[in-house]
Amino acid sequence: MSHLTIRGGSRLRGEAGIQGAKNSVLPILAATLLTADQVELRGCPRLRDVDASIHILRDLGCKASWEGENVLLVDTRGLSGCAVSEHLMREMRSSAIFLGAILARCGQAELSYPGGCELGPRPIDLHLSGLRDLGAEIDDAGGVLHCKAPRLKGREIVLSLPSVGATENLMLAACGAGGITTIVGAAREPEIVDLQRFLTACGARVSGAGTSTVSVEGGRRLHGCTYTIMPDRIAAATYLCAAASAGGEIFLRGAREEHLSTVTAVLREAGCSIRSDEKGIACACRDRLTAVCPVRTAPYPGFPTDAQAILMAALLKSRGATVFEENLFANRYRHVDELSRMGANIRVFGRVAVVTGVDALHSAPVRCTDLRGGAALCVAALAAEGETSVREIGHIDRGYQDLAGDLRRLGADILRTEN
Ligand code: UD1
Repeated sequence: MSHLTIRGGSRLRGEAGIQGAKNSVLPILAATLLTADQVELRGCPRLRDVDASIHILRDLGCKASWEGENVLLVDTRGLSGCAVSEHLMREMRSSAIFLGAILARCGQAELSYPGGCELGPRPIDLHLSGLRDLGAEIDDAGGVLHCKAPRLKGREIVLSLPSVGATENLMLAACGAGGITTIVGAAREPEIVDLQRFLTACGARVSGAGTSTVSVEGGRRLHGCTYTIMPDRIAAATYLCAAASAGGEIFLRGAREEHLSTVTAVLREAGCSIRSDEKGIACACRDRLTAVCPVRTAPYPGFPTDAQAILMAALLKSRGATVFEENLFANRYRHVDELSRMGANIRVFGRVAVVTGVDALHSAPVRCTDLRGGAALCVAALAAEGETSVREIGHIDRGYQDLAGDLRRLGADILRTEN
């Protein structure tokens, strides 16, 4: 099994670029199905989840090939199927996003139910009820979703909570629905704005992304385009937290502070000095961090659940105690046991975790429990004495193109061993 070896104690210094956003490219890859044309995606990160999406596209009869380091060519003209096999659905829990796009293009779709994941249950009831509102007939017997929608029809859909995946799925289905669809109570994440930009570049009429009401005028024939994926705000948050944990001074080229202002606000409160302009974000962390006011995860523009573990890792040696409240996912403190092995003082009470800063962390063999939990172990290891071995890093590869390489370029003592 591949693993990372991290020797803590080196301050970070230097510059790193930011990969394209995982949570943006995944719905955009599903959206390519709407075009029956060629799409060139630039700044496309090389991730396990991107590979899983490529496998799904190829399974459906489409072509996808890398043309250089981060340019992916997708050609969906040859689409020949509308069923995604169960093993491909299992490769990536967010594969439900293909449902809306396949329905819009083919008028039918067959997918297995994505089920739970390492973060806890992953319901898609809002996706399904929204698609039903648009006229889809969905039979979900036996863990397989049989969906039929010879003619989708636009209308108003009200989401009872701002689900990112449901908003995206419904935007894609709405492109194939006659008339106007209005999604009320939509999620407002920057990745939804990126999806709107992509769809618009393909000739769709979509507006309102970034607000809680998204409108789609469907039924237009979409064409291919060349599109550059937005920078990954969670990868940027990870490297900021790495600098906060290890100390030092870094510059993140291409990172956009407006996408992660709740994270930078907390890091400033903890004692980091952060400046940003259109070129990127500069972060300097010289002294021991201090504890911060309670950090409550919430849908965008609130504090991102995807940055909870990473920030927690950065605060393990802070002065004082910080309270975390995880409000999005039931099972998102699995990294806590692993961090505790390194000497962290964290107590969990249901959805609340209290982190009391310690004077020192020590090395330990630890294993990744999930994508962001894995990144958090690396952030903590940068501030630990001795050599930490991080195992089960396949989780990290789902969302980071080259976490070890980026941290090494920033001066960390980190080695990846493949076996
Ligand atoms: C997306 C992100 C993920 C991030 C999450 C929350 C992608 C590929 N993944 O996941 O990294 O952590 O947003 O910011 O973009 N829910 C329901 N019913 C539904 C759908 C969701 O109850 O039909 C609940 C979920 O259980 C969860 C909450 O809504 O508690 C938010 O989930 P959602 O916004 O849908 O997250 P994802 O789109 O799965």
